[in-house]
Amino acid sequence: MRVFSLNLEQTGKIAEKFVRKLKKNTQAVIICLKGELGAGKTTFVQLAGKSLGIKKNITSPTFVILKSYNIPQIKSRPQFKKFIHLDTYRLKSAAELNNIGWPKIIKNPENLVFIEWPENVADLIPKESILIELKVIGKFKRVIDIWFKKKKRAKK
Ligand SMILES: Nc1ncnc2c1ncn2[C@@H]1O[C@H](COP(=O)(O)OP(=O)(O)O)[C@@H](O)[C@H]1O
Ligand SMILES: [Mg+2]
Repeated sequence: MRVFSLNLEQTGKIAEKFVRKLKKNTQAVIICLKGELGAGKTTFVQLAGKSLGIKKNITSPTFVILKSYNIPQIKSRPQFKKFIHLDTYRLKSAAELNNIGWPKIIKNPENLVFIEWPENVADLIPKESILIELKVIGKFKRVIDIWFKKKKRAKK
């Protein structure tokens, strides 16, 4: 699925719509975000978190690798409990990710996981993960490609 964003507000709406489509699974739901520096990966995650009702400021985890937030619960529908944001830009090896509990994180169906720079840890990303690619086409314009399934990605 390809969408265009002309400004931050539109990216917010795209992120909100995206989050609403997510369903819990038997394992964590993982969202990989690809795109050059400044493409809007962190911004997309921030806006997705906001739409889930997270009040805390979601800040870039570039230096800490991982940040975790509680998702406010609404009784009417089953929800993810933890919003986990990773940025592996500064990771020296994929093994480091295992040291911060990655295997446990991806097993837990209560987790909604966003990971920037998944390329750096490609071997540790489950096949079922969702891919979002952001491209800059103007100061405020972005192309956002979302692949819910890997098969569709292969066709491109
Ligand atoms: N339409 C848009 N969607 C998302 N970000 C935008 C848009 N227009 C401008 N921006 C800006 O682009 C920058 C993206 O930075 P950031 O999200 O940190 O990128 P990344 O995490 O990919 O390096 C932010 O300063 C953001 O405000
Ligand atoms: Mg970032």
